[in-house]
Amino acid sequence: MKKLLVALSLIAGSLTASAQWGRPVDYAAGPGLKDAYKDYFTVGVAVNKFNISDPAQTAIVKKQFNSVTAENAWKPGEIHPKEGVWNFGLADSIANFCRENGIKMRGHCLCWHSQFADWMFTDKKGKPVKKEVFYQRLREHIHTVVNRYKDVVYAWDVVNEAMADDGRPFEFVDGKMVPASPYRQSRHFKLCGDEFIAKAFEFAREADPTGVLIYNDYSCVDEGKRERIYNMVKKMKEAGVPIDGIGMQGHYNIYFPDEEKLEKAINRFSEIVNTIHITELDLRTNTESGGQLMFSRGEAKPQPAYMQTLQEDQYARLFKIFRKHKDVIKNVTFWNLSDKDSWLGVNNHPLPFDENFKAKRSLQIIRDFDAAMDNRQPIEDFVPNPCNQPGQEYPQVNSEGYARFRVVAPDAKSVIVSLGLGGRGGTVLRKDKNGVWTGTTEGPMDPGFHYYHLTIDGGVFNDPGTHNYFGSCRWESGIEIPAKDQDFYAYRKDIKHGNIQQVTFWSESTGKMQTANVYLPYGYGKVVKGKQERYPVLYLQHGWGENETSWPVQGKAGLIMDNLIADGKIKPFIVVMAYGLTNDFKFGSIGKFTAEEFEKVLVDELIPTIDKNFLTKADKWNRAMAGLSMGGMETKLITLRRPEVFGYWGLLSGGTYMPEEIKDPKAVKYIFEGCGDKENPEGINKSVEALKAAGFKAEGLVSEGTAHEFLTWRRCLEKMAQSLFK
Ligand code: GLA
Repeated sequence: MKKLLVALSLIAGSLTASAQWGRPVDYAAGPGLKDAYKDYFTVGVAVNKFNISDPAQTAIVKKQFNSVTAENAWKPGEIHPKEGVWNFGLADSIANFCRENGIKMRGHCLCWHSQFADWMFTDKKGKPVKKEVFYQRLREHIHTVVNRYKDVVYAWDVVNEAMADDGRPFEFVDGKMVPASPYRQSRHFKLCGDEFIAKAFEFAREADPTGVLIYNDYSCVDEGKRERIYNMVKKMKEAGVPIDGIGMQGHYNIYFPDEEKLEKAINRFSEIVNTIHITELDLRTNTESGGQLMFSRGEAKPQPAYMQTLQEDQYARLFKIFRKHKDVIKNVTFWNLSDKDSWLGVNNHPLPFDENFKAKRSLQIIRDFDAAMDNRQPIEDFVPNPCNQPGQEYPQVNSEGYARFRVVAPDAKSVIVSLGLGGRGGTVLRKDKNGVWTGTTEGPMDPGFHYYHLTIDGGVFNDPGTHNYFGSCRWESGIEIPAKDQDFYAYRKDIKHGNIQQVTFWSESTGKMQTANVYLPYGYGKVVKGKQERYPVLYLQHGWGENETSWPVQGKAGLIMDNLIADGKIKPFIVVMAYGLTNDFKFGSIGKFTAEEFEKVLVDELIPTIDKNFLTKADKWNRAMAGLSMGGMETKLITLRRPEVFGYWGLLSGGTYMPEEIKDPKAVKYIFEGCGDKENPEGINKSVEALKAAGFKAEGLVSEGTAHEFLTWRRCLEKMAQSLFK
């Protein structure tokens, strides 16, 4: 499938499409995150010893980040494991790496219940010390670390995780059940109460009068914990404790938190501090059980595509909120460089760089945000999509081209609509209280028709709201974004309409029945001067994965013809739209696609059937062949091999002819080539110029604002039809 799509994108000459269609993309190409976010906040990363020594890894750090946190090396238990024993080795290496590269650091962390210098609590005999002794030791620790590194540090996580978690109304203290304290029952707290927090900040301020002093914690978006942190910081600040900011760790997952919760926490903390750092961002992929972290172990397993989409979407949403609050958010730090480094385990795939240090699409999505879209809300004039099934309110489309979806799936864990802005895996819906999933595309969609489907918990489904259309080798949901020029394919009640008949015929070469749809113009069969009028025929092919219904239904071929005829722009002709994948073609490589089987069906079986049963002008100068995408490939191959059959040739996002490919210049009266401006218009323009220069009558169309989709081809048909059979 991937190969096929690459092949198709090659013939369409479309680079943007190919990026979406599986050709390897270097997502790290482009500016670094630090540059993309220079007007917002610094972007940081937590590093280990490999990240600052392996050249491939240091290159990533230097390009992407302007803030570094030592993952473990500066933690009290690591750097100061015993009284008088200091492990400055790795800690210094990280600091020196940053000094050499002009990167500022977040000092993490000076006081924490975990990975702590627990010797501070006991004397030589192992007996608990008094809090005054503890403070003395803590002060010496903080002064030593801060003085050693403050030249390269701009912010310190002075105290880490001092507050209690949600969900514990009671707790056991010294064997007794008591109402839960807002504070974590750490050794620090048991010895000193919350005074240790104040002391730690005071010691840090003494040692570094200018550094930003941060209180850092996790689960800041949980209401209870948020309030406990808020109350503590507020109380401390009111008492004159030098807390400058709050660090929200940000160990999140693909479902959590939602924007509302995150914003509530940011807004709440903004009441008491003007600096917030997102200090430890990662998005785990595996689901939570009871709020517990789930670590993954073992070999890297590939991340399912839909999980990747959910994660990309979550990253996009979070960064949008971070950007919105740039007045208070001064830094966002990823916790670890790559999935390989992550404390969560590689199978959580939590970071924008994978286990081989290759950038993922999430990096691109975080980096290449569109600032103009950040504050843009769709106009609330959504109406049901024209393709909806009777009585269905959703999907809806607004006047700007946004699409809104609604899916009832109360027990689902995730619902993704495959449709969205380019470069993304689609639109991720969110569940409301009633179990209804809704979501709106990030921005306006290209006008015209789009196929789409739903991915619900990894399974693929159609949207029950809308009609199905044959595409991707199956019936898929469809949506129509109204185009400014939609009148040329609109149903007009004031004009005469032709009709479309389904024709079946036995195909000897394939050994089965084949099907074609035949457009007959209004007035077909009428007698002029005693004779039934006869018509030229256009054989019009669909693309890969489509069938004979694609042009009549989503292509609106009949309506386009009716309107052109009614407006006197063309003389009536017949259009035959046949099934073109008669050989069940499997795309191994583009080179193997010969269209030989279909050529037999078309030239030896279908054309004779049509000429026998319809009032056709059965000669080359009254016969045209054109096709879109794969149908264009078929057209090119067959017209070049059988120039005696067709006199007019058309390729719609389906490649180009080069003059030297056409042996006999007199073989063809007219060549049409077209594509969307989001494909590769230069290819079309160059080819048309070359053909004209070589004396061919050639015409091109570059469709404005469209890609490899049906509005491009409707426009192509409308233009091409006006030059056929002249
Ligand atoms: C906490 C700490 C970090 C790190 C993570 C897990 O969030 O603040 O230093 O230890 O846990 O890696």
